[in-house]
Amino acid sequence: MEQINLTGQIRWIGKVDDRKVPFHRLILEKGTTYNSYFIDAEKPAVIDTVDILFGKEYVENLSKMTDLTKLEYIIINHVEPDHSGALPALAAKASKAVIVCTKLAEDELKKMFRLYNREFLIVKDGDQLELGGVTLEFIETPYLHTAETMMTYAKEDQILFSCDIFSTHIANFELFNDIAKQEYTEDFRVYYDLIMAPHRPYVRDMLKKIEQLPIKMIAPSHGYILRGDPQKFITIYNQKSELNLSGKERRVVIAYATMTGNTGKVAALLSKQLTDAGIEVSVFHLKDADLGEVADRIKESNGFLIGSATRYGDMVGNVEELLKMIQAEDVAGKPAAAFGSYGWSGEAIAHVEDYLVQFGAKVVNQKFLIQNMGVEEAIFPLRIRFSAEEQKERIENAGRIFAEQIMAAK
Ligand code: FEO
Repeated sequence: MEQINLTGQIRWIGKVDDRKVPFHRLILEKGTTYNSYFIDAEKPAVIDTVDILFGKEYVENLSKMTDLTKLEYIIINHVEPDHSGALPALAAKASKAVIVCTKLAEDELKKMFRLYNREFLIVKDGDQLELGGVTLEFIETPYLHTAETMMTYAKEDQILFSCDIFSTHIANFELFNDIAKQEYTEDFRVYYDLIMAPHRPYVRDMLKKIEQLPIKMIAPSHGYILRGDPQKFITIYNQKSELNLSGKERRVVIAYATMTGNTGKVAALLSKQLTDAGIEVSVFHLKDADLGEVADRIKESNGFLIGSATRYGDMVGNVEELLKMIQAEDVAGKPAAAFGSYGWSGEAIAHVEDYLVQFGAKVVNQKFLIQNMGVEEAIFPLRIRFSAEEQKERIENAGRIFAEQIMAAK
């Protein structure tokens, strides 16, 4: 296998896949690469692997390059099988290697590959790992594009192993962008639009985390290694993820009924996230509201959230009365979601969602999130059992996700 060096100690050990590759209900017409990296330090390490289809070939190639029994770490930035697919084959040969990943990734890898008897090292934002001459720092990047994802930064060499972020789906044998024989910036942009854009707020978080890092090279998981002008690609992400409010004034209605005040607290936390995203929010506590006016405001809005506590398995207050006043033709296609807090089974939230589905609204729920964002967690409908304060982070995350749907809506 030809050696492709990023530095004296760091090598590309991936696979160029120049087939038409099926991926997330798309066909990657230009193929892709699975970029895995070997760090030949005092404590040797591998960053990510390749797609499961090429696992055997990958491990055979790597074992010609190094004694796998001496491999100390296998760093998995992302669990998806195009990154971790060769992990079982590699881990079997590299029997002493510790698997380094986030907590969420550990749970998933153990289940996916039955790695229950394997040693894991769980890392979080800012943790460092000394390999001997190479210091790695880990940067968590949740939802880019799945919850468990992280990046790895080699401090001395100033290389950012950015996982799916800053990738391009394009098969190429030059591997480095500064010797590319083809134009690829448009493919880089398209990749952002398809994979990263649905997670725009998390892109902003990630950019903030790396803004102070000196970066000489970005080594992503797919496509070109960005050795020539890496800052240009960070700037593209910066520009594409900017919240452009010009001509995009957006209005959202949050209407709710509460029993103990907890659903009201959820409404307030959601409202704060939407407001922070530049959206005009009208919050109605239905106990005191003119339902006709609320229905009108929903009709004029760009999206709406309906919340209800649950009492005797049903909605409370005037929630159902309001829902009966809403005309399907007035809200069809608008982003909408249900939320509420509850103590026992929270049926009201499901009843609200039934109405939203009947209206033909663009219901933001678990099915929607799986299909559109690859997010499996039950974020919406937002069901908060007992204290809103204790689940503040979850509610804020839901608010950001809903805000994104509003900003993305035509
Ligand atoms: Fe490259 Fe999320 O897989």
